[in-house]
Amino acid sequence: MSAELAVEDLVKQFAPGIRPAVDNVSFLVPAGEIIVLLGPSGCGKTTTLRMVAGLERPTGGTIAIGGRMVARAATGDFVAAQHREVGMVFQSYAVWPHMTVHENVAYPLKHRRLARSEIATKVAQALELVGLEDYAKRSVTALSGGQMQRVALARALVYQPKLLLLDEPLSNLDAKLRLRLRDDLRRIIKETGVTALYVTHDQSEAVVLGDRIGVMRDGKLLQLSDPVSLYNRPADLFVANFTGASNMLDGVVDGGGAIRLADGTRLPASLAADARDGAAAVVAIRPENLELHPPGVNAHGLYPGRIAAERFHGTQTVYSVDALGTRLEIVEGGTVPRFAVGDHVAVALPADQCRVFTGTAADRSGIDAEARVEA
Ligand SMILES: Nc1ncnc2c1ncn2[C@@H]1O[C@H](COP(=O)(O)OP(=O)(O)O)[C@@H](O)[C@H]1O
Ligand SMILES: [Mg+2]
Repeated sequence: MSAELAVEDLVKQFAPGIRPAVDNVSFLVPAGEIIVLLGPSGCGKTTTLRMVAGLERPTGGTIAIGGRMVARAATGDFVAAQHREVGMVFQSYAVWPHMTVHENVAYPLKHRRLARSEIATKVAQALELVGLEDYAKRSVTALSGGQMQRVALARALVYQPKLLLLDEPLSNLDAKLRLRLRDDLRRIIKETGVTALYVTHDQSEAVVLGDRIGVMRDGKLLQLSDPVSLYNRPADLFVANFTGASNMLDGVVDGGGAIRLADGTRLPASLAADARDGAAAVVAIRPENLELHPPGVNAHGLYPGRIAAERFHGTQTVYSVDALGTRLEIVEGGTVPRFAVGDHVAVALPADQCRVFTGTAADRSGIDAEARVEA
């Protein structure tokens, strides 16, 4: 029942002469896989999803669901949303307030004129799947936000769609509910086996939910990879930064195997063969991958620094550290902070955790403005 989704060269230009909201995006979701589109606000996630749903007409490219062409811009072929057999869950809890939980979930089946007994069985199964089997007779208005989203999910799944589309379904929930439903969502989607396209601006959601994650910026799909590759082999500085490699050190390529930073420090780095000597370079590293040591430790690859700020988060501490001519953010796990403001420290940058991007200095300003807002 679940179907492959094939999106090719998809374009949406809302008006002539303006930048396309979706700019030549291609991806393939095999049946049963969850793909997450991740990116900052305005990058084209919702527009992509709405085109797959049939709520928006592409101005370029094709969309096929289960091998059936549902949109082809060149010929104007377009299958309406209600004939695409897709389930949808949105940010707002699109549940009907005057109905009970059962009635909400049964609605799509009634619409399809199923027998009463069959409706009862399917609704019971869907409610059990989302953990609301004891709530069938309640009014939806008596539910929490998280429970309302579970109702919306049950309603989207009850008629066994070929494809499930979710647009930031957790963003209206408070932090605790968001984490609970996030973890449940993947289990529920996998239990049904439905193919899913999920869009979010939240990297932690993307990582927990996605079999693969596609990072979008300005309408373009920059990288589509499994979460581990995305975090460890980001294709460019934007992806690195957006997935949390927030420390970025500016420098220049200095000989074969090193970057010279602004303060003169030479950092060993593995560089692409074509990296030109003197070319601008940025070293990106995650706050969790930098290491702090007490001062005086004088091993190779340690750089002196000083704690400028310290934020205790309960199970980890986030330090701002002045080192290498810049301010680094460093996260240490554990419930007891090891350093205080003003302490001298030694900072290690594990070479295998540093990602070097050359010729990207110009890109950086855009990233600071864009990606940080969402962090
Ligand atoms: N109906 C519309 N008419 C004109 N522009 C739109 C419309 N919908 C979205 N856009 C524009 O398309 C771009 C992408 O929007 P959207 O897909 O909603 O991004 P995201 O979901 O990633 O935040 C934005 O610049 C937005 O302003
Ligand atoms: Mg959106």
